[in-house]
Amino acid sequence: MRWNIPATRSNCGTCSKLKKNMHARKKNILGVDLGSRRIKVVELGFENNKPKLVTYGIAELDKSSLSTDVKKNQTVYASSLNQLLIAIHATTNLCVSSLPTLSTFTAMIELPAMPKKELDSAVRWEAKRLIPLPLDKLSLDWHVLPTVEANATGEKTMTKVILTAASKEDIDNSVQILRQANLKLMGLDAELSALRRALVTATSEAVLIIDIGANSTCAAIFLKSIPIISHSIDIGAETIDVNIANSLNVNMDRAAQFKHNFGPTLDSQFEHPVSKVIKFTIDNLLIKELRPLINSFQENNKTTLDKIIITGGGANFKNLPQYLQKVFSVTTTIGDPWANISYPYDLTSKLQKIGPEMSVAVGLALRGA
Ligand SMILES: Nc1ncnc2c1ncn2[C@@H]1O[C@H](COP(=O)(O)OP(=O)(O)OP(=O)(O)O)[C@@H](O)[C@H]1O
Ligand SMILES: [Mg+2]
Repeated sequence: MRWNIPATRSNCGTCSKLKKNMHARKKNILGVDLGSRRIKVVELGFENNKPKLVTYGIAELDKSSLSTDVKKNQTVYASSLNQLLIAIHATTNLCVSSLPTLSTFTAMIELPAMPKKELDSAVRWEAKRLIPLPLDKLSLDWHVLPTVEANATGEKTMTKVILTAASKEDIDNSVQILRQANLKLMGLDAELSALRRALVTATSEAVLIIDIGANSTCAAIFLKSIPIISHSIDIGAETIDVNIANSLNVNMDRAAQFKHNFGPTLDSQFEHPVSKVIKFTIDNLLIKELRPLINSFQENNKTTLDKIIITGGGANFKNLPQYLQKVFSVTTTIGDPWANISYPYDLTSKLQKIGPEMSVAVGLALRGA
């Protein structure tokens, strides 16, 4: 677990030279979210720069086929992805993919004001100090935030920089999977950048996004769509499966079934034992981590949180929006990544159902807009 601040866009090594392509084309683009349990793909087209859904799909990874052997896993991911692309009749091989939040390090650093050409070495120096990995194993990306502190005479005194680092090994892993699946990679984004694109509107004031995946949760607060603070937690919906299985002495399959039918109850007088376990896990592993994030944001920015948006497969827990709304006293909704995308009307209920899982993939494909 760590505190961090997301970059709005992470180029992560492979991406810089590919950026040029991005601006030149108006072709369809695939957003490919390589989750720890599911691969999610969305293909968008852009008519007059307006995103339009072309196709989409989800592939469940077979848990038993995943191991600690990186090369074998790459083959498993690549072949599942390949099959998925065929099944959904994807029409392009151009893609944007993501690096999981737990594989990226992001931090906001404050530096004294200095000429642009000196900033590069100052940022690298700070990276060396902050990140417990040798710099030659990392791909660094950074950009200066528009907020600049000035003294009484208007001279800049401080520069705030958002630094993103990803291990070259993790980048290489994603690149290998996509290559094996015959995809042409146009960029790798941090997941939080994709979520911002899919779920945060320019008019949003202070919004907290919580993405609850199978094995990890990431949370980030955006102020007027600028990422201010974020946090990654190595728990997800599967943590709840384990807790249900252990507490109620049932096997994992049964626990997973239970999970789909229960959630944290709002009235603790009539609480089912499964709801109790879910609530206990959410209270102790999620809410406990989110409170300091929210407090720190509110104190440092002298403002209050306006909205919470939950996403990821774990957003589907029954009553979760209502429960978080009650706990934090902040309006809480499930994210709708399709809100600004045109799609056939008859797909509405299907797309709404899978919306939370698809947010990252939609946000990645939106990079083509
Ligand atoms: N209705 C539901 N109630 C509770 N959990 C659910 C529900 N539907 C799906 N999930 C859980 O959501 C998880 C999958 O979510 P998602 O697709 O966001 O994960 P992922 O991207 O593969 O994981 P990660 O982001 O951790 O790598 C699974 O653990 C699944 O059991
Ligand atoms: Mg995920």
